[in-house]
Amino acid sequence: MCELYSKEATLALRGKHIGPSCTVFFAEDPVKIVRAGRQYMFDERGRRYLDCINNVAHVGHCHPEVVEAAQKQMALLNTNSRFLHDNIVAYAQRLVATLPPQLCVCYFTNSGSEANDLALRLARRFRGRHDVITLEHAYHGHLSSLIEISPYKFQKGKDDQKEFVHVAPAPDTYRGKFREDHADPASAYAAEVQGIIEDAHRRGRKIAAFIAESMQSCGGQIIPPADYFRRVAEHIRGAGGVFIADEVQVGFGRSGRHFWGFQVHGEDFIPDIVTMGKPMGNGHPLACVVTTREIAEAFHGSGMEYFNTFGGNPVSCAVGLAVLDVIEKEDLQGNAIRVGNYLTELLNKQKAKHTLIGDIRGIGLFIGIDLVRDRERRTPATAEAQHVTYKMKEKQVLLSADGPHRNVLKIKPPMCFTREDAEFLVEQLDGVLTVLEESIGTQTEPANSSENTLHRTKMPEEALRELLRGTPDSTEDASRRRNGVCVHCMTKGSRR
Ligand SMILES: Cc1ncc(COP(=O)(O)O)c(C=O)c1O
Repeated sequence: MCELYSKEATLALRGKHIGPSCTVFFAEDPVKIVRAGRQYMFDERGRRYLDCINNVAHVGHCHPEVVEAAQKQMALLNTNSRFLHDNIVAYAQRLVATLPPQLCVCYFTNSGSEANDLALRLARRFRGRHDVITLEHAYHGHLSSLIEISPYKFQKGKDDQKEFVHVAPAPDTYRGKFREDHADPASAYAAEVQGIIEDAHRRGRKIAAFIAESMQSCGGQIIPPADYFRRVAEHIRGAGGVFIADEVQVGFGRSGRHFWGFQVHGEDFIPDIVTMGKPMGNGHPLACVVTTREIAEAFHGSGMEYFNTFGGNPVSCAVGLAVLDVIEKEDLQGNAIRVGNYLTELLNKQKAKHTLIGDIRGIGLFIGIDLVRDRERRTPATAEAQHVTYKMKEKQVLLSADGPHRNVLKIKPPMCFTREDAEFLVEQLDGVLTVLEESIGTQTEPANSSENTLHRTKMPEEALRELLRGTPDSTEDASRRRNGVCVHCMTKGSRR
């Protein structure tokens, strides 16, 4: 039996017993999912949805080999890592084999937040300093220590930016400070970090770490310009700090050519600490921090034991091993390249057709569609993006919108996504954008139009409002009223 309650009863009970800040996707009309397989999710009526949201179900929902590995180990033994067990060491060996040799010491945790919190502790202990440089719009987790370094969170709420937190510009070459027409955006963005370091020094502060996602996810599917991380690492290390790469969203082969997102930034770029989570356990809570022997020894030098009741337990490690096996056996990295490239190609054709699409960016199966009201000004099409996600849901495609303006459609599906799925997604998106553009009085251009000639007619605000009236939470006010419910459900929810 898949359901205990009717959908209405589930909603009512959730309202009664689950904290109101725990939001759901599509708040006005939530989806009740009762089962899933591969890249598809099924609601209580048996309707099938194409899942473009869940990078957690990395090798596919309920992959039989992963399920079997968990079941077998669960039936045999599960306990904490103070007892000797082979799974934790077998898994640690397999994991570090995917990383540069310096990154060879693992600490297992249960969530990406725990991993990032521990990464901060390692860096601070190693350097004996506290300050952290983080990127604009970054999200690194829900613990207090991470809200502090997550502008995505603290700039939205009432929290003040702490004096030990320094925010560098997001290396966004589409909408950021230095764009694709800049001669050397990598150096320009890295110089901003250097400026922050110098300013901190002038104020008598010292930097312990720089932390960034290897590709920014909640920040709007941002791919930093080539060489940016290498240059930042030089500045940070020059100032005595360490580089933490957050791979919680983008690790485990999503970028296709490389197993880790940071490797996209060049063979010679090696972070000091790497954190991972989400896809690692394919839905089972499993996360990790990997670092160098030197940093681990310094942490040990504090004399404080690190103990985590569930981190690295035999069941979690059996699951982790099975996930690695499936990635390899099913060539999911190869699939991410092939299907990711194909999807990007199809989306670029849509860009030539729909003036609402300002930018298509991504690597492998990590893709963003930046919706704009005006291509020249790159005005974010926030309400339109929310509308599109709801309409796509009606067409049985689950998508989310994120980024600082919540106008970037995020595509980060299970890695078994196929060419046929890509075609279905694009066909549905084409239909939704065509209707939307017709309704709001802009032109859908023939596919062979040159990009430069595409300018949207001025957005008739009233027509837009009228059209979007049926779209839940399409206005700023509505989303704020619900404490960001819709915005949250489209954005935070997308990260789960
Ligand atoms: C980049 C990044 N780091 C860390 C986290 C925190 O992971 P978790 O929710 O598993 O604690 C998230 C969660 O969305 C994330 O997106």
